[in-house]
Amino acid sequence: MKLTREVCIGGTVVLVCGIVAAGIAWALLRSLDDLPPPSRQTLPVLDWWEHCVLYQVYTRSFKDSDGDGIGDLKGIIDELDHFVDSGVEAIWLSPIFESPMVDFGYDISNYYDIHHEYGNMKDFEDLLRKAHVLGLKVLLDIVPNHASIESEYFQNSEADEPEYRDYFVWAEPVWTDMGNETIRQPPSNWVSLFGGSAWEWSEVRQKYYLHQFAVEQADFNFRNPAVMDEIINIMKYWLDKGVDGFRLDALPYLVEAYPEDFNGSYPDEPLSGISKFSSNQLGYTIPIHTKDLLELYDIVYEWRKFVDDYKIKNGGDTRVLFSEAYANISMTMLYYGDEDGSLGTHFPFNFGFITDLSDKSDARDFVYTILKWLTYKPSGSVANWVFGNHDNKRMASRFRDDMVDGLNALNLMLPGVAVTYQGEEIGMRDGYVSWQDTVDVEARNRGNNDTYLQYTRDPARTPFHWNDDMSAGFSTNENTWLPIADDYTEINLAQQRESDTSHYKVYQTLTCLRKEPTLSHGLYDINTLSRETFYLIRRLKGHDSYTLVFNVGEEEDEVDLSRIPQLELPARVVTASVFSEVMEGKSINQSNLTLRPGEALVLKTSPVTDC
Ligand code: GLC
Ligand code: MG
Ligand code: CA
Repeated sequence: MKLTREVCIGGTVVLVCGIVAAGIAWALLRSLDDLPPPSRQTLPVLDWWEHCVLYQVYTRSFKDSDGDGIGDLKGIIDELDHFVDSGVEAIWLSPIFESPMVDFGYDISNYYDIHHEYGNMKDFEDLLRKAHVLGLKVLLDIVPNHASIESEYFQNSEADEPEYRDYFVWAEPVWTDMGNETIRQPPSNWVSLFGGSAWEWSEVRQKYYLHQFAVEQADFNFRNPAVMDEIINIMKYWLDKGVDGFRLDALPYLVEAYPEDFNGSYPDEPLSGISKFSSNQLGYTIPIHTKDLLELYDIVYEWRKFVDDYKIKNGGDTRVLFSEAYANISMTMLYYGDEDGSLGTHFPFNFGFITDLSDKSDARDFVYTILKWLTYKPSGSVANWVFGNHDNKRMASRFRDDMVDGLNALNLMLPGVAVTYQGEEIGMRDGYVSWQDTVDVEARNRGNNDTYLQYTRDPARTPFHWNDDMSAGFSTNENTWLPIADDYTEINLAQQRESDTSHYKVYQTLTCLRKEPTLSHGLYDINTLSRETFYLIRRLKGHDSYTLVFNVGEEEDEVDLSRIPQLELPARVVTASVFSEVMEGKSINQSNLTLRPGEALVLKTSPVTDC
């Protein structure tokens, strides 16, 4: 660990990911660590994104540069060094486009301009240029499923302008005779993800429009070729500016059942039969007509073709598409497209650690969830691991504080792309946001004073903790758009950078370790050692092996390392959980090992010299 860490901090390797960087890293490592001769020449060349550390910036909460209490682009520019220092190689920014902010940027009113609270186009161009100088890739978050009702598209469509008439999903009402009166009703029982009917009446157009999310987020009509062209245009506009790819939002909802296929009317969803849900609550119906429709994948595959063609025409590095889809494993894997993942998005985000695991999970659950992805994934495609995002409780709060280092180690040692949500590198927890301070549209729509905590996404969005100054160094303003979490004096970047032992230091060690060919190209093996402890070993012929042992349980656990196939003792401790009593650099000679609750160790073993 010591040597690789010195190499990473002293050299330029932290700046870049990909083959050039790998070559430089290799040369440095060789000269400094006197490793056995490289078999690097024979290793497949990886594209820049295939093994990168990808970091989600929740723009509004990352860094405020102008003191309005709201994160902005200049704030991100000011902190670009943080990515380099962390070993992050690519960032994706939650939406930065003009928006009325009903869903904090996921309701876009102009896809071609920057939201005024975040800055202007020049700021964005500066950000992109400066990030690129540092070797960082920048991805934007495009929302293709819906636009703000304040967008020109919607305004024109609502006004029945011919060019925009079919841009959205419009439907005639159903009139129900109630004896003495006739009542206007929506065309189907579809329920919005944010609660209430998915149909909203427009007085202007005298029709209903569809919104799978908030009322202010109208669903585009993807059967209209003009809409397809427009989304491609939007992507082209930003690619021309130099962005390196896109995160594509909410893809399962792109297409809905079409009346033409159902005798001219919108079909009702079947009822779930779950009695606790009333007819306007999510969960009342089973979304077979509004989610995961096969037709949507053809649209996604067209987008992939577009970005691939863009590279052919314009040169430069690969432009990537990463898709957001909460769906079952089969429907998720379809986003890859084919066996080598070249037909669909470069990958769909893997939400297994969010949806399938929690603080109740044991080692078997972890192993099972990890192998599930690796087993279903098309054989030639790239894996990825997501531990949190702006829609879910933070990693440290969904699991336990004592698991932070083990979880980051897992993320950074598994094959493929490691995805970090801002704050995970320092183990940030959810902040407390009262009902009065709650601004999340999902929580406001679905919850009330007593129930909102089940739905609210605000706690995962409280501002980043830079230091222990006022407002955690996020802003010079005391009033920030969401309150700063109380624990910022205890958990913040400045303090963790200064400390010899911290989540951040562990994170840095591991992002550095990722440069090792074993972690980019090696084989993996993962299995339980006990009910609560599992191992992940990465091996590559002729190179050091790396093993993670992680006790996810709440009790001390004694395990037998001799049960890890191919692990030759002694092994050297590369890094460990911050509270571990095992020192970095320590040699482990005996196979029985006791791990404290949540404790993780990363071990290194050198290859046995071939005689
Ligand atoms: C995605 C976003 C989420 C947003 C929703 C609607 O799930 O991650 O924040 O509310 O799409 O755009
Ligand atoms: Mg600001
Ligand atoms: Ca849709």
